[in-house]
Amino acid sequence: MNIERLQQALLNWYKVHKRDLPWRKTTDPYLIWLSEIILQQTRVSQGLPYYLKFSTQFPNVHALANAPQEEVLKAWEGLGYYSRARNLHAAAKEVSHNRDGNFPSSYQGLLELKGVGDYTAAAVASFAYREGVAVVDGNVFRVLSRLFGDATPVNTTQGKKVFKGYAQKLLNKGQPDLHNQAMMELGALQCTPTKPNCRQCPVKDYCSAYAQSAVAQYPVKERKKYNRVRHFFYVYPQYQKQVAVSKRRDNIWKGLFEFPLLEFEEPKEVQEVLESKDFLDLGLRAFQLDTPVKLRAHKLSHQTLHITILPIHFEDKPAAFSHCQWIAKASLKDLAFPRPLRQFLNEKQLNLPFD
Ligand code: ADE
Repeated sequence: MNIERLQQALLNWYKVHKRDLPWRKTTDPYLIWLSEIILQQTRVSQGLPYYLKFSTQFPNVHALANAPQEEVLKAWEGLGYYSRARNLHAAAKEVSHNRDGNFPSSYQGLLELKGVGDYTAAAVASFAYREGVAVVDGNVFRVLSRLFGDATPVNTTQGKKVFKGYAQKLLNKGQPDLHNQAMMELGALQCTPTKPNCRQCPVKDYCSAYAQSAVAQYPVKERKKYNRVRHFFYVYPQYQKQVAVSKRRDNIWKGLFEFPLLEFEEPKEVQEVLESKDFLDLGLRAFQLDTPVKLRAHKLSHQTLHITILPIHFEDKPAAFSHCQWIAKASLKDLAFPRPLRQFLNEKQLNLPFD
């Protein structure tokens, strides 16, 4: 393989076909880091409005560091994987308070920041500082596995090592920033998971999978066995115009608001839940249960949540839910909720404008 020709063909293609994206017009490590954290596990079309919101609301690392966590989580609402937002905030504080607002100036240094792994450190170092480190994201894994016709599963430790090695070998050391962007863009626009546009691919002459008419066989992924299925029943306690909410302290939605939760490992009918020990232990009296609302299954990376909401009205303020705050319904819009609960609240508002 003539690597220099491949690099040139890739860059020529990139200059013509690249999308006009705001984080490509800056070398500010803060903005680049921000965009890369937002874009992890997120499509550009979904991430772009969040990037615009964050970069306006928190135009520099000090603004982000000094914002209350609730404001950061509220701005992140709907994007999922909330540990990213918590780490984002922690790293901003570290840079603002302990490093005078300066991001670490190398790939190695960047790795020390919370929430910054190999991918993000390589992206920031190459885009902001033009350091010669290759970026390997999901798109790049796919491109490389096809180019080299390598069936090592991409979602394994071995795969990460093998493909990072290929990426580093292909890297254009003179223009690592453009080269990395171009590899990612090729994966996003041309070398797509299904129906890749091989006929017009700038590097098809170098592609092992293409030569073997085997593009659809790459990348190879190892099947992940474990998907935890959980059954959540949220009590939606209403008293006058207030609702009881609490802030989650652990787990997937740490820092977000939710309603009192009863969780089961097995599927349950609503009647069974109402007769369960956990529910009876709440000691609720004088309440009226409205029609339960079953939400769509909510899939996370390693778990599926089946969520049912039990809307309950109380005549007297119940003693249960002592760990909760009672919030005016009109204020619920200002709090950050997990996506399924936010959807429930939004739909409820549409259906029941006077509730
Ligand atoms: N996805 C993740 N990072 C990206 C970037 N810098 N440009 C386009 N898509 C991306």
